[in-house]
Amino acid sequence: MTETFARNAPIAVFDSGVGGISVLRALKEIMPHEDFYYFGDSAYAPYGTKTTEEVRKRVFELVEGFRDKGMKACVVACNTATSAAVRPLRETYPDYTIVGIEPALKPAVMDRAGTMPNVIVMATPMTIRNEKFHNLMDRYVEMAHIIPLPCPGLMEFVERGDTASDELYAFISKLLAPFDKDKVDALVLGCTHYPFVADTVRRVMGDRIVLYEGGPGTARETRRRLEAAGLLTDRDTKGTITIENSLSEDKVRICRKLLEN
Ligand code: DGL
Repeated sequence: MTETFARNAPIAVFDSGVGGISVLRALKEIMPHEDFYYFGDSAYAPYGTKTTEEVRKRVFELVEGFRDKGMKACVVACNTATSAAVRPLRETYPDYTIVGIEPALKPAVMDRAGTMPNVIVMATPMTIRNEKFHNLMDRYVEMAHIIPLPCPGLMEFVERGDTASDELYAFISKLLAPFDKDKVDALVLGCTHYPFVADTVRRVMGDRIVLYEGGPGTARETRRRLEAAGLLTDRDTKGTITIENSLSEDKVRICRKLLEN
């Protein structure tokens, strides 16, 4: 069945928790007149250590809900959920604007084309395991040394609102301990929670390290897709942001705080 969506309806943005706020801030920056509905699925987090089937089922439920409510598009602001479900979602709902996110490996490699850089990709175990990431790596494998680094346990810090503690510093130091800091050229933050720990990653790796995140590219892609579908808002007043969470109001408060920073 083909649905039509109203151009002034909100855009749904969701993640397994508070991390997708890093994508929402990029969306709101380039589309300030749009209304956004952000849903954090903290009751079901983390996604990254579950099975692909479990996450796919959950993501279908959520996206169907947004679509049924008439939200004009859905941004899957989660690398893990994108790798688990975006392709089957698009096949099931070809009439719906669904935008996913993937680790920003392309700019990390292309900015250093011809130099065979060492690029670490930090992401959840599921993102790194899934075919989508392997296909992405295959595209750049001759242009860079790509080092996938699964980071189970890291998103939990951000979920607690911890973006700067000593425990976080110790956790990230341990994750990155095997690498020679002087030889790593770029580091991709391949989970939407990780941009919130960028300062700690920089403290561990040193100021020379260049970090990449997928939010801005996903925001630009969302604007392109909405424009192509004739669904950009025609209002010129500031849009609204509604935030809900499947676990608690406390998570909503953490989201608001992250959005302000
Ligand atoms: N924020 C999610 C991502 O971008 C993952 C966090 C989780 O494991 O739920 O991959």
